[in-house]
Amino acid sequence: MNILLIGSGGREHAFAWKLTQSTLCNKLFIAPGNAGTGLCGSNLPVAINDFELLASACVSNEVDLVLVGPEEPLVKGIYDYFKNNAATKHITVIGPSKAASQLEGSKAFAKAFMQRHNIPTAAYGEFTADNYAAGVEYIKGHSLPVVLKADGLAAGKGVLICQNSLEALSEFELMLHRSKFGDAGKKVVVEEFLKGIELSVFVLTDGKNYVLLPEAKDYKRVGEGDTGLNTGGMGAVSPLPFVTDEFLQKVKEKIIEPTVAGLQKDQLDYKGFIFFGLMNDDGEPKVIEYNCRMGDPETEVVIPRIKNDLVELLAATARQTLNEITIETDNRCAAAVVAVSGGYPGEHKTGIPIQGLENEVLENSLVFQAGTKQQGREVFTNGGRVLVVTSFGDSISEAAEQSNYMMEQLYFEGMYCRSDIGYEFP
Ligand code: AMP
Ligand code: GLY
Repeated sequence: MNILLIGSGGREHAFAWKLTQSTLCNKLFIAPGNAGTGLCGSNLPVAINDFELLASACVSNEVDLVLVGPEEPLVKGIYDYFKNNAATKHITVIGPSKAASQLEGSKAFAKAFMQRHNIPTAAYGEFTADNYAAGVEYIKGHSLPVVLKADGLAAGKGVLICQNSLEALSEFELMLHRSKFGDAGKKVVVEEFLKGIELSVFVLTDGKNYVLLPEAKDYKRVGEGDTGLNTGGMGAVSPLPFVTDEFLQKVKEKIIEPTVAGLQKDQLDYKGFIFFGLMNDDGEPKVIEYNCRMGDPETEVVIPRIKNDLVELLAATARQTLNEITIETDNRCAAAVVAVSGGYPGEHKTGIPIQGLENEVLENSLVFQAGTKQQGREVFTNGGRVLVVTSFGDSISEAAEQSNYMMEQLYFEGMYCRSDIGYEFP
């Protein structure tokens, strides 16, 4: 079949790399893609939210299946757009409907969903300018730290962990009265701070059944030892030594199964990946957040550890026959290290030539590209996160060490990466 993959990050390069390994994949298109995805298929110069152009590109290229990488087109309703158009309704879109994407697109929606379906999560209150005074009282009486979340998508910046009530009240005021996060912050979720160890669990669901994918942890802070500003993700590792069978069983029974059943009960169309951001508090899992897609850079460790044919998995998702699939996992450990442009996540340059991509890739390593652009025969930086190296090893530290070594073979001016990915798993 012909496939269109939407997105342009390291996640999409990893997906593209995996899709092309399938004998079921005839032509692969990526919109808009990057220099790395261009090595796997044909990049199309179409923006991720231009549904009309995406649809016509699918029709003219006889695309059978669309895999949506990032959340924005999902939250904006790409699934429904394709379904409701005569020319595209035969095309399978892997990703939830607009209504179901609210699990990521609205924190208040996600909290109400969890409450309705008895899924463990932090206790919360939900406020707008209309019940501002009640919000102030709620915050004043709240234990510390207290967490404030802009309801909508805020490019990963909408979550504030406040150590005292004054700070929380001031942020609350900024969000509701001074549009700190624009429309995304017109509603605010105020919630309890969860302690424990964070991890990410992924499933692929066909709306009835699901398959569990390898778990992962990402490293969000820009600096060594988890310091400095939050980023899209500076690295990831999989599997996690503290994730025991007993813990996974609890995650399935208390979180995944009620979520999939809840989607069905609420008649929310969902054929795609669900990303559960979890907290493990002394062996008890709680949901921090849902994402309606795979993570980046988590995909760069999760996908390489899956032995199954990805196109077969997506086709089974479309047919609602995931119950017939067994996920086969590579038992080795994987560690991904991300190279970013100097200054990221703040201001940074783009258009810098990248050297070393022509070097031989070490056995047991993979080089994925993120913010890159092909111009003639050269590849230039084109974003904050630029390159991702994933390596396998018998331990996380061995895998991370090899990724660090492989990363040294690559260079662009201002390049920076964390050298301590996986540091807590010796
Ligand atoms: P999110 O944008 O929902 O992924 O939140 C960003 C990060 O904030 C999460 O990855 C957690 O590290 C942290 N966080 C969010 N909510 C909570 C919470 N209730 N308790 C503790 N940490 C949280
Ligand atoms: N790495 C976190 C995310 O993809 O949201």
